[in-house]
Parts: sequence; C-alpha cells; structure tokens
Amino acid sequence: MPREREQWATRSGFLLAAIGSAIGLGNIWRFPYVAYESGGGAFLIPYLIALLTAGIPLLIMEYAIGRRSRASPPLAYRGMSRRAETIGWWQVAISFVIATYYAVIIAWAVLYTGFSIGQDWGEDPEAFLYGDVLQTSEPGFVSSYVSGVMWPLIGVWAVTLGVLVFGIRRGIERANKIFIPLLAVLFIALVIQALTLDGAAEGLDAFFSPDWSAITDGSVWVRVYGQIFFSLSIGFGIMITYASYLRRRADLTGSALVAGFANSSFEILAGIGVFAAIGFMATNAGIAFDEVIGEGGIGLAFIAFPQIISSLPAAGDLFGVLFFGSLVVAGMSSLISIMQVVISAVQDRTGMSRVPSVLAVGGVIALASILLFPTPEGIFILDAADHFVNQYGIAMAALVSVIVVAWMLRQLPALAGHANATSALRLGRPWLLTLGLVTPLVLGWMMWDSLREEFDARYEGYPATFLAVAGWGVAGGVLLVGVLLSLLPWRRADELITVAGGEGRPDVR
Ligand code: ALA
Repeated sequence: MPREREQWATRSGFLLAAIGSAIGLGNIWRFPYVAYESGGGAFLIPYLIALLTAGIPLLIMEYAIGRRSRASPPLAYRGMSRRAETIGWWQVAISFVIATYYAVIIAWAVLYTGFSIGQDWGEDPEAFLYGDVLQTSEPGFVSSYVSGVMWPLIGVWAVTLGVLVFGIRRGIERANKIFIPLLAVLFIALVIQALTLDGAAEGLDAFFSPDWSAITDGSVWVRVYGQIFFSLSIGFGIMITYASYLRRRADLTGSALVAGFANSSFEILAGIGVFAAIGFMATNAGIAFDEVIGEGGIGLAFIAFPQIISSLPAAGDLFGVLFFGSLVVAGMSSLISIMQVVISAVQDRTGMSRVPSVLAVGGVIALASILLFPTPEGIFILDAADHFVNQYGIAMAALVSVIVVAWMLRQLPALAGHANATSALRLGRPWLLTLGLVTPLVLGWMMWDSLREEFDARYEGYPATFLAVAGWGVAGGVLLVGVLLSLLPWRRADELITVAGGEGRPDVR
C-alpha cells in the first residue's frame, strides 16, 4: 500500500514556500538585466500582458494539476493520459539540469557576500571575477578544478540536502519561514539604500520610460515569456509538485494570484533597486548606462555591483552583504523547490522513502554540479545550458503541456471545476480562452521566431561542437530522457493514481 502523501501544515506555509520558490536568482539577477536589454520601460508593458495572459493562467493550471493528482509531475500527467507522462519526465529532467548550475550561481553569491567585507575585488572587478575567482579559460569542457568555487558549492549542496531530508513540513516549510522574512528585510534595506544614492532618479527614469519601438520587437516578447516562466517557477514541474502536497480544501486560485503577484512585485522592486544603483554609478563615473551594465547578466551582478559598492560614499560593505546575501537566500529557497521536483518523482516511481531518495537524487545532482561547474570552463557551460534549457526546455514544455492539456485531453474544464470547488474566485471563460487560445498562439509564435534566430547565428558565437553538446545537446537530452523514462513499464503507477483520486476526475468537494 503506498505511503500517505505528506502535506503542508498550513496554507500560509505552502504560500511562503511557493513564493520562496518563485523569488530566486531570476528576480534579482536576471530580471533587471533582461528588462534593461529590452528597452527599460518598454519591457514593463509586454511583461504585464504576458503575466496576465500566460504566467498567471498557467500557474493556476499547474496548481490544479498538482492538487488534483496529489502526485509528482510524471504521475500527474499519466493520470490524464498514459502518453502525457512524457511531459512530466521531461520537466523532471529540466529541473535536474537547472539544479546543477543554479547551485553554482548561489555559490558565487556566497563568495561575494564574503568579498563584500573589505571589497576584495579591488580596482578591477571584471579581472577579479574571471581571473581570480572563476579562473575562466575558453569555451570547452572540464580541464581542471577551481577549489575556491568548489568549497562554497559543496556547502550550498550540504545545506540544500540538509533541509530536504526533513521533508515538506519540517524541512521546506520551516526553512521558508526563515528565508522569506529574512529576504524581505535584506532586500527592503537594500532598495532603501539604493534609492538614497545620487543619480537614483536617472536610473529609475531609464527603467520606467518606455521605448515604444521595442514593443514591436519580437525578441523582446521572447525574453519576456522566458523570464516570466522561469521566474514564476512554471513549465518545469515545481508548482505541480508543491501543489501536490496541498490540503484538499485550500483556495487554489487565490493562492496562485498571491504567489504570482508577490513574485512580480518583488521582481519590479528588484528592478527599482538595481536601476537606482546603476543610475548612481553612471552619474558618479560620468558614463553611459550601457557601459555600467557591461555585456551579460552574469556581469551585472558580479561585476557592476562590486563596482557600485566600491564607489559608494559610505556603507559599501553593508550594501554588498545585503545584495549578495539576498541572492543567496532567494536562490536557496528556489533551489530547494527545483530539487523537490526530482525527489518527488523518484519517490513516486520507486516507492523509496524520503531520506534515501533525497540522498540518492541529491547525491547524483550535487556530483554532476560539482564535477562540471567549478571549472575554468564552467561559466560557458552554465551560460549555454541556461539559455537552451530555458528557451527549448521550460518554454517548450510549457507550450506542449498547454496544447496537450487544453486541446488533446480537453482537461481545462475539469481542472477549472477542481479549482472552483475550493476557490473564492471562480475560473470561467476568460481563463479557458487565455490558456487554451492566447497562450499557445503567442508562445508558439515566440518559439518559432526564437528557433529561427538560433539557426541564423550561433549563440554567443560559441564553437559549434561546444554548442552541440552544452546547448542543443542539453535541450535535446532532457526531452530524450523524458521520452525514455516514460517508456519504461511502471506497474505501481495505476495503483498510485487510484489512491491519488483518479484519472481526470474533478474534485467536487
Ligand atoms: N523561480 C526561480 C527563479 O526566479 C527559479 O530563480
């Protein structure tokens, strides 16, 4: 007989965990840079449109799938159709890959929290990052190891697995009760400090003044969708997994709205803080905005911020600790959620209990992470894997899941019924139309446009063989793993689906 599924102790516990998962490196490290690249204010309009027409509707769908099935993504999709199980394993494989490199960025942030005290980067933070810290070489495959990165990475893995072995209630729920208030305090202190800097107003001007020409630029929309999915933790199984531990009576639609808007508010707050700081830097050094930002997302956090910190008139060390400390805390709660996707799937698949499954899954993912990334080539492998797994993993899996659930399995009305049975806000035609029609059309177009660009020019000009493995290989690999795992016979599955509440049966309680 299958074990009873764990549950969140309280609705607020679940909400904090869902918010903790959503708010992560994507909000503090990626959003401000992506927003800037896409024309500042012009980004906010597509952002809000995509949030309302794709992000939130899809988030509600994933909540409903998770709670209705009370299962990990492969089993939840299998409950709707035997063949849809592939989508679940695909998402599990995506989470596996993301976890391996996500932990490394947290490890860099741990190092930089320490470097902030005393501003160890000196006069040239770029040379410090690529030379002293990462010891970067050329795009390629592992040639040696950088112990300065490896140790904090091992620490990040130890803490993550240490939380996960305690399970949903005593591990994840408790950790988030510490992480989220801590993050809020750190980040609000940071934003207030940023807003008091000279030049902050110029920074905000750049963030909020619209560049209308960018609105008609397809690539802006592509980046907006990618950002929203990554940031809301949808498309890679996280929200299905977290919602599977919900109580039967929890308000689903309300929880999705709270989590979605909390995430976006934090994201915009991060944009305000970061742009204010860049405004200060540009004014202080008398240089143009783009020169402060440099050439990449990674650069913004780990090069521009140290520069800003060093030029602050006072309390630079504190500003650094707040910024990099926020990255660590926000990243940890998200990494925990990404890991739980793989752990819950392995538990459902094998019947293993929590501790052995955390150790087995955690051991394999941590090992892959430690073997690949604290290396002179790690930053390039990370960059290629992140780009490809986002565009052709998360966004593609989101597109396929919407098409399959809405059109092939025609499950949206049943899922709406399931959500409506316990939610104050009822889902109706607008939800069905946006999710069934607008999301697949816009996402489908975006995917097409993005693939076309990908074939026109090699991403970042990386060597073809390197991209074939670390880029296309990763994106294709996660899909292949999804297909192969779903082909294996799984006898226990039908018993688990019966226990979980049955195939596609709307919950009317
Ligand atoms: N949602 C998480 C983030 O934004 C994964 O980083």
